[in-house]
Amino acid sequence: MHYSRALVTGASSGIGRALCELLAEEEIPLLITARNGEKLKEIQSDLGKKVDVQIFVADLSSSTSRASLLTAISGYVPDLIINNAGFGLYGPALSHSTEDLSAMLEVNSKAVLEISLEAAKWLSKAQRKGTIVNISSAASFFPFPYFSVYAASKSFVTIFSESLDRELSPSGIRVLTACPGMVNTSFRARASKGLFTGKIAFGFSQELAARKIYEQIKRGKSFSIFTWKYKIAVFVGKLLPNKLREKILARSLSKRFPVYSKM
Ligand SMILES: NC(=O)c1ccc[n+]([C@@H]2O[C@H](COP(=O)([O-])OP(=O)(O)OC[C@H]3O[C@@H](n4cnc5c(N)ncnc54)[C@H](OP(=O)(O)O)[C@@H]3O)[C@@H](O)[C@H]2O)c1
Repeated sequence: MHYSRALVTGASSGIGRALCELLAEEEIPLLITARNGEKLKEIQSDLGKKVDVQIFVADLSSSTSRASLLTAISGYVPDLIINNAGFGLYGPALSHSTEDLSAMLEVNSKAVLEISLEAAKWLSKAQRKGTIVNISSAASFFPFPYFSVYAASKSFVTIFSESLDRELSPSGIRVLTACPGMVNTSFRARASKGLFTGKIAFGFSQELAARKIYEQIKRGKSFSIFTWKYKIAVFVGKLLPNKLREKILARSLSKRFPVYSKM
């Protein structure tokens, strides 16, 4: 299927930015969004030589901002929608403000809900096919102490997307769930509030993650965890007693990020 326009959220950096580069190579016009308008303009001037690139500056934690983006969706009716914007916060839930944790839910879950439904409604009204890709996480399958709200927000993404795919696929609208594993982006620096800025040795590059997402789109695969390591970890995690699994998950944060070694 050749797409007439792709909406990419979280396009200003990391996986989102790499996806924009890849989609422009495939000659798919873009509607890109994030908060950082300067970065979006940079991408527009880089990729604008290849395809039409429209930018939409929006803070997805704000309901007003999300409402304007939904209006833009009704105007452009993109047929490839990639809900990629998202962030996490490491550490005990009580160490963060409820406001920050609520903002995470708004961006990671509520924006995904609203954008997916709005895009699907307009496609359906126009009797067009399309693909919605929701970026979830291998952290979405289990309770995850010290990363609780992120895991819960992505859990919503996984269950919602898989369920919606079963509902909409008969009409030609697919909803795919992608769990990228570890990707070296600014995700961890943001999640640790700047305390961890290094790279994960076994992590993917953002370009490889974007290629894997695009392969999933081409194959129309409903659900994908990108690496065998994470596929096995999720499988084994389901077999372990809850307490042991939760201990291992919490330890994995403190091992990866020595700053959390007291957890
Ligand atoms: N990196 C990993 O290891 C990994 C693993 C599994 C899943 N993921 C998921 O992959 C997705 C992309 O993350 P990434 O690794 O590429 O991280 P990233 O480089 O930090 O990119 C996150 C993107 O989300 C946007 N964003 C954050 N808060 C926003 C808000 N309030 N409103 C609008 N946009 C917002 C950011 O743009 P602005 O700051 O300009 O707004 C940025 O473009 C996320 O959903 C993440 O949960 C990442």
